[in-house]
Amino acid sequence: MNHFELRGGELHCEGVSLRAIAEAVGTPVYVYSTATLERHYTVLRDALAAAGLKAPLIAYAVKANSNVAVLRTLGDLGAGADTVSEGEIRRALAAGIPPQRIVFSGVGKTEAEIAFAVDTGVAEINVESEPELHVVSRIAHARGKRADIAIRVNPDIAAGGHAKISTGKSDNKFGVSFSEAERLYANAANMAGVRPVGVACHIGSQIVDLAPMEAAFAKMRGLVERIRAEGLPLQRLDLGGGLGAPYFDQPEPPSPADYAAMIARAMAGLDIELAFEPGRMIAANAGVLLARVIHVHQRPEGRRFLVLDAAMNDLMRPAMYDAFHDIRPVVPRPADGAGSDKPYDVVGPICETGDTFTRDRALPPLGPGDLVAFMTAGAYGAAMASEYNSRPLVPEVLVKGDRWAVVRPRPTYEEMLAREAAPPWQQ
Ligand code: LLP
Repeated sequence: MNHFELRGGELHCEGVSLRAIAEAVGTPVYVYSTATLERHYTVLRDALAAAGLKAPLIAYAVKANSNVAVLRTLGDLGAGADTVSEGEIRRALAAGIPPQRIVFSGVGKTEAEIAFAVDTGVAEINVESEPELHVVSRIAHARGKRADIAIRVNPDIAAGGHAKISTGKSDNKFGVSFSEAERLYANAANMAGVRPVGVACHIGSQIVDLAPMEAAFAKMRGLVERIRAEGLPLQRLDLGGGLGAPYFDQPEPPSPADYAAMIARAMAGLDIELAFEPGRMIAANAGVLLARVIHVHQRPEGRRFLVLDAAMNDLMRPAMYDAFHDIRPVVPRPADGAGSDKPYDVVGPICETGDTFTRDRALPPLGPGDLVAFMTAGAYGAAMASEYNSRPLVPEVLVKGDRWAVVRPRPTYEEMLAREAAPPWQQ
């Protein structure tokens, strides 16, 4: 469920007209709904509680949408943050999320980042390899601290909406095998700078089938039991993120209630604190990307191109993962939907063929100046945007009820150029 709907013939985000935002801020622009963000977080939290699970930490995956205003919206509800860089830790802190609710994950944390995480006192560092375990211990010990760590396991189970976002197979770069995890956990218990508190996994993203998750979680449970049988304390099991979002006309993900029920089954009788790292399921449906039609280019021999002012630098997912985003007119014409749809290739202005959002998509008649919304674009949209082709970074707007605010302005061309410096020999 989300809060983007037609009101008085115009697509609105909560109480605000998307046309009005586009006119005030210009296009392309991302627009996020506070009510949808809040709803998705609370629905998950409540489903876990209703299934009787002890889940004190729902660490929102900052990578999905890292705008500080979005983080604060979730942080104010009690969400933690799953972070993968010093930049993300700093964003979470800037949003008022306390260190005790921050998890630091990632395959290649630098020493500077680990030192920052240790100094910050994050809740848990998810360690992904043996060398990293030693580095974390050395850095924390040198600072007179013991860092709480979890070992990230690679359960060797494939899942996820695309090969590029499947992380749980043993030939993916993430985590260690079960036998390695057992050995590293035991070693960690004897290291001066770390305190092993848990194990973690994450098998992929945009998962619409519970079966691979259930299989992975059963294996994780077995690992917890084996580690405890060795007499080692283990309080936390981090089950990662990965539950898919409903992209219109695509396979539907399971409900949070079904997800929670599956976990309750998998963990029945096990006394453990669970942690979660959801990104997409919280943010995807809470955002749209607004774009304006520049031209409709109808080739006499066939193809019809809808050329937008948004491009792959603003929304990279179709180019990178062949991802599907529903495209809707912001102010539909009265005849729309009455068999008037035509096939369009929807493209941006960037100089490569990959800058194609979709081909042969049936859309209502559209003309220059019309506004369209890419739906379900709140996750991995703005967060992955760039300034390729020297297009200023796409701005972001947050809506709450009938109020809205620009939460990341579009840089001016002067600001864009001011970030660069001439070398001395050119001055
Ligand atoms: N935890 C870890 C360790 C992760 O690697 C990820 C996502 C998450 C949590 C959050 O997963 P989610 O709940 O959002 O599925 N850019 C791609 C998605 C990349 C996901 C990477 N890892 C896309 O646009 O589809």
